[in-house]
Formats: sequence, C-alpha cells, structure tokens
Amino acid sequence: EGREPLVLGIETSCDETGVGIVRGTQLLANTVSSSMEEHVRFGGVIPEIAARAHLEAFVPTLRRALDTAGVELEDVDAIAVTAGPGLAGALMVGLSSAKGLALASGKPLYGVNHLVAHVGVGLLDDQDGAVQELPPNTGALLVSGGHTEILRVGSLTHDVELLGSTIDDAAGEAYDKTARLLGLGYPGGPAIDKTAADGDAKAFTFPRGLTMPKFVGTAEDPGKHRHNWSFSGLKTAVARAIEQFEKAGKPVPTADIAASFQEAVVDVLTSKAVRAAQEHGITTLLLGGGVAANRRLRELLAERCAAAGIELRVPPIPLCTDNGAMVAALGAQLVADEVGPSALDISADPGQPV
Ligand code: KG4
Ligand code: ZN
Repeated sequence: EGREPLVLGIETSCDETGVGIVRGTQLLANTVSSSMEEHVRFGGVIPEIAARAHLEAFVPTLRRALDTAGVELEDVDAIAVTAGPGLAGALMVGLSSAKGLALASGKPLYGVNHLVAHVGVGLLDDQDGAVQELPPNTGALLVSGGHTEILRVGSLTHDVELLGSTIDDAAGEAYDKTARLLGLGYPGGPAIDKTAADGDAKAFTFPRGLTMPKFVGTAEDPGKHRHNWSFSGLKTAVARAIEQFEKAGKPVPTADIAASFQEAVVDVLTSKAVRAAQEHGITTLLLGGGVAANRRLRELLAERCAAAGIELRVPPIPLCTDNGAMVAALGAQLVADEVGPSALDISADPGQPV
C-alpha cells in the first residue's frame, strides 16, 4: 500500500546497453555495458556493430541490474524503454527485449523519448537521499555525440519544447572529428579536453557558428537560428589551420588548436543556451550528455548561469551519459502521472522529436 512503483528502464539507442531500476525517485541500480571499444578502430559508432553488441549484452546487463537492486523481474511494476531517437537497429534490440519482458510478465510497457529521459535523471534523489523536485520551467542542455539540444520542460510528461538544436554536427561529434584531424584518436572529447589543458585558448580565433545578426535577430524579432548551433564551419576552420602549418613544414601546435577549438565550442554552447533559457523563463538548467564531462564547459556554463541567475544542475557523469536509470526515472514519472502505457506493437522511431 502506497509503495512507489518499481520501474525497469532499458536504453539501447546508441552504443550503451543500459538497464536501470528505480523505486519512484530512488535509484536502485544503473548498469551499463558499452560497445565503445569495438567502434574505436572505425573512429565512430558503427550501427550494426552496436545492435549486435546490444543483443549480446542485454540479458547479462539486466541480470546485473536486478542483482544490484536485489529484486526479481516479477517484482517490477512497469517496464520503460527508449523508443527514439537513436540508431534504428540499436533501438529495435531494446524494444524487442522490453516487449518480450512485458508480454511474459503482463506488466505495462512505456516507450519513452530518449531526450526527455536525459532530463528525467533530474527527478532522481541526490546522493544524500533528498528528493530532487524538478521545478517547473526547468531547461536542459543536452550535449553528446548524437545530440545538441536546448529544451524547456514545463512537465516531463506533457510539456516539453525544443528551443534549439544543432543544424549539422552534434557538439561531441565536432570534438570527435576535430580530434581525428589532430591525430588524437577516438573518442575525441576526453582527448581534446586533456590536450587543451596545455594550450592557449586565445591562440586561434575559430568561428562561432550562427552568431551573425542575420541568424540571431533580436528578442523581439528572432532570427531563424537564434537558439540553434552549427559546428561544421568550425571543423573546416580547424582543418585549414592544420593545413597551413603542414604546408609551411612547421609543427602543428596541437595543444593551442585543441584549446582554441574547445573555447569556440564551449563559448557558443553556453552563450546560446543561457540566452534561450532567459528568453523562455527557464530558472533551472540541467546539463546532460557525454560532453557534460568537459571541464571547460562545466566551468563556463556555471559562470554564465550564475551571472544570469539560473540554477545549474549537473548530474554525476554516469547519469549524464546514456543509461537505463534515466529511462526508468521517466517511466516512474509516467506511471505517477497516470499516462497510459504504450501498445505492444510500438515501433522504433529513429528520428523522434521531443
Ligand atoms: O552521451 P554520450 O556518452 O553518447 C552519445 O553520443 O549519446 O556522448 C559521447 C560524446 C562523444 O562525442 C565524446 O567525444 C564526448 O561525448 N565526450 C566529451 C568528453 N567526454 C566525452 N566531449 C568533450 N569533453 C569531454 N571530457
Ligand atoms: Zn543520449
């Protein structure tokens, strides 16, 4: 009686097989198996390899999550699974597995949106056990290898608005591509983060995409790309800078380029996120995605949010990157809000908007 629902969350949209278990807002288990290592030699995630890895990792990952939480499948009240956006084949593995579990157990299935789930981690109790009420007009800046979005979230279950996104590469993708140009390997984010520490961020002035007045406009008369990002021009500028040193037979100043590139990414990410937040009445901003691990991003975003009077929340890194706990947390909220479950013929939706 009055016990909070026990929810299983399944995430397979990219290269992470994630199974999370929550009871209401309490996190009981968050188990992740990554196929990252298998993609390294290709310099990016190969969809078919990711799908096959999910197929192999799902049951062991589920088993470990159940053991960690000290529960059994029959104890679970609901099953939540990422339905999109993501890689089609990868999503299908999670969805098929979740459907099988739901059918066999008779428990309701909730297909959830991956981007909204990233915000859903904000619902989980913090380490001290205090319940983190997600305030109304929360926003989220999601920055990963696959997405770069700013969202306004009035309610996780019925009021999520996409305020802006990248029109080409995701921020993490820009890190990965630039790291490849600099010969720093994959994944590029951590490599550039580390290399940049020894460089001069002012050595090069790389472009800040979509910051020209014609794209930005004004608050009263916003341009089409006021809250959008573009990182493809930045990558091209880095390639040209490298080329010039190589042509002149001079050593490439790798650390300076890495630091200047990082400054350009982080500057435009934070300035646009804070502007979008201010203009949409966002008072609490949640940072999520793999790029949330970036030291300079955390530092500059904290500075700019403080200056704008916005409360910044940065969940622990394992909850920022793709995981099952975020899916379970959103699932628990759907149960609490009495949103009906999904039909068992629900499909994967690779391009699903928020
Ligand atoms: O969220 P995530 O683990 O997976 C998805 O793409 O969904 O994000 C991975 C991305 C990669 O592009 C990686 O290079 C980037 O996050 N990343 C970083 C850092 N750590 C990981 N980017 C910048 N700085 C970092 N410290
Ligand atoms: Zn993600």
